[in-house]
Amino acid sequence: MRKKIVAGNWKMNMDYSEGISTFSEIVNMVRDEKKGDQIAVICAPYIHLNSLAQLSSGIVKIGAQNCHQNESGAYTGEISAKMIKSTGCEYVIVGHSERRQYFAESDVLLAEKTAIALKNNLTPIFCIGETLDERNNGSYYQVLKSQLENGIFLLNAEDFAKVVLAYEPVWAIGTGLTATPEQAQDIHAFIRSEIEAKYGWQLADDTTILYGGSCNPKNASELFAQNDIDGGLIGGASLKSRDFTEIIKALN
Ligand code: G3P
Repeated sequence: MRKKIVAGNWKMNMDYSEGISTFSEIVNMVRDEKKGDQIAVICAPYIHLNSLAQLSSGIVKIGAQNCHQNESGAYTGEISAKMIKSTGCEYVIVGHSERRQYFAESDVLLAEKTAIALKNNLTPIFCIGETLDERNNGSYYQVLKSQLENGIFLLNAEDFAKVVLAYEPVWAIGTGLTATPEQAQDIHAFIRSEIEAKYGWQLADDTTILYGGSCNPKNASELFAQNDIDGGLIGGASLKSRDFTEIIKALN
């Protein structure tokens, strides 16, 4: 069943007290906003996960921004999916373009991370998106198809059904240059058609596909009104409780 989700990606922001105060503001502002099966998720740095999980209530859930691909072991500085789950966290972002870029995370590695997140009962938010060059040279459909086929499409239908997808055009992330509703809808419909070709129409129709890339209170309603956009993955605007809450309210 397709869910309506607004997820905030705090990235490497918020010290411990800022995180608690901002999250508490969001929970209080959103408390009366529950409509249907909407979900709000804050994907916070690891230091926040347990304290925010204890504060979360109603539709507001907690996510991490990454996990290691192994169950445990000699990986200094890394965090496992099992550890993340033990904090009370329910979601984990996998394959954000910043991790693909800065940490050379390959499609295959991301498929492994997705699998171990699912094994530990976390809901992966699996990110795909093209660069500005790929947008400008017209190769973006092939790039996105490749990211799906070499990554998340390695899952069987049962596991794929548990995944949330996020389309984040890299050229829109942190730039203020949001994809137009038409551009975003075009890609979301393309992604859904690829899912249908791989897994059938029912699973394609049930898959939640979020848009990310300079989504804000001003443009969220028009983006979320598109048939194949089921919510957003929000960066900068999720750091401000009022803006993030306004975006949640834009979910119809
Ligand atoms: O993961 C969401 C993020 O990449 C989008 O960032 O600041 O453009 O909303 P922003």
